[in-house]
Amino acid sequence: MKVTQIAVSSYRNLARQKIAPSGGLNIFVGDNAQGKTNLVESVYLCCIGKSPRTDKDKDLIRWGADQAFVSVKYSCRFGEGEISITLNAKGKKQICVNSVPIAKMGELMGYLNCIYFSPNEIKIISQSPAERRKFLDVDLCQTDKNYFYCLSRFNKALAQRNNLLKQARSIEELADSIFVWDKQIAEEGARVIAKRRAFCQKLKTYATKNHKKLTENQEELFLEYITQIQGDTVAEISQNYLALLQQNLAKDFAARYTTAGCQRDDICLKVNNVDVRSFGSQGQLRTTALSLKLAELLIFKDIIGEYPILILDDVLSELDIDRQRRLLNFNPELQILMTTATELPQELKSNLLYQQFDIQDGVCKPANQ
Ligand SMILES: Nc1ncnc2c1ncn2[C@@H]1O[C@H](COP(=O)(O)OP(=O)(O)OP(=O)(O)O)[C@@H](O)[C@H]1O
Ligand SMILES: [Mg+2]
Repeated sequence: MKVTQIAVSSYRNLARQKIAPSGGLNIFVGDNAQGKTNLVESVYLCCIGKSPRTDKDKDLIRWGADQAFVSVKYSCRFGEGEISITLNAKGKKQICVNSVPIAKMGELMGYLNCIYFSPNEIKIISQSPAERRKFLDVDLCQTDKNYFYCLSRFNKALAQRNNLLKQARSIEELADSIFVWDKQIAEEGARVIAKRRAFCQKLKTYATKNHKKLTENQEELFLEYITQIQGDTVAEISQNYLALLQQNLAKDFAARYTTAGCQRDDICLKVNNVDVRSFGSQGQLRTTALSLKLAELLIFKDIIGEYPILILDDVLSELDIDRQRRLLNFNPELQILMTTATELPQELKSNLLYQQFDIQDGVCKPANQ
C-alpha cells in the first residue's frame, strides 16, 4: 500500500498544498513546530478517521477557518483510491471514499491501512491497560470490519448497563431490566475477547522474533492477552461471561458500574521474565514498543496481503544508530513517512535511498528543488 498524494487545506498550520511522496522512504525534515506531525497526522486521519493525538476533530481545523480538508490518494493491490475528509467547525465530519460519502465510520476501515509510531507509543507499554486495549482495537478495527461493529455494540451495551446501575433504586428493580444488556455484553464481549486473543497470539510470534533481532538475542520478550473470562470457544467465553455478570450484580450495584469484563482486559508484557510494564528501563520500553510495531506490520501483511504504510513520527532520535538502520531497512517494499527535526546522520545517509521534504511554516517542499 502506498500513498501517492496528500492534499491539505486549512488543516492545522499547514498551507494549502499537494505533496507527492515516493513509494519508499520519505523523510520530512523541519525545525520544531513547523508542521511535520500535522502532515503525517493528516494521513493517519484518512486511514482511521481519527487523529492519533486528539479526539476533538475541531482542533484539526486551522484556527479561525470554517473547515479543514484532507485528501489522500493511494495505490494498493486492488488498484487506486482516494479518501477525503472534510471537517467543519460544528464538529461534523464528512468522509468520502472515491468521492462517495460513507454513512458510518466503520465503512472507512480497511481501505488505507497504516501503522503509526511516535515517542508517545511507549505509553502502550508503560501506561494503563486502556492504552494496550486501544492498541489492539485500532489494529483489529483496521483489519476486521466485524470487530469494529462488535466493539461498537459491546460499548453501547456496556454504557446502557452502567446507566441502569447508576439509576436503579434497588437490586430487585435491576434484576429484571439488566438481563437484556448482560446477554448482549456477553455475546459481543466474547467475540471481542476471542479476536483480541487470536491477534495477540500472532503478535507474540512476530514480536518475540523482532525483539530478539533488535537486541541481538540479549532479550526475550513474552506477551499474553489477559482476561478474567475463561473459555476456548466464543460460545464458552460467552457463557462464562454471562455467568460472571450475573454473579457480580450485587457488587456492580454497590459500585454503580460494571466491575468485570473485557473493558478491563490487558496484555502482559515481560522482558527476560520481568514485567516490562512496571519495571522496564526506557530503552527496554522503546525496544518493546518497536518490536510490537514491527510485528503489526507483519500481521497486516498476513491478513491483508500487503504492507500498510509505516508512519514514524519523531522516533529516530530515540534509537541508537544500529536500531535506526535496522528500522529504516526493515523491508524495501515498505512506504515510510518519517518526520525528524534533524537531518539524518551521515553514516545512515550514505547507503539509504530516500526522498527528503523540507517543512517550514506549514509549507512542505521536496528538498533540492
Ligand atoms: N488548529 C490549528 N491551527 C493552526 N495551527 C495549529 C493548529 N493546531 C496546531 N497548530 C500549530 O501547528 C504547529 C506545528 O505543529 P506540529 O505538531 O506539526 O509541529 P512539528 O513540526 O511536528 O514540531 P516538533 O518537531 O516539535 O514535533 C504548532 O506550532 C502548533 O501550535
Ligand atoms: Mg512533531
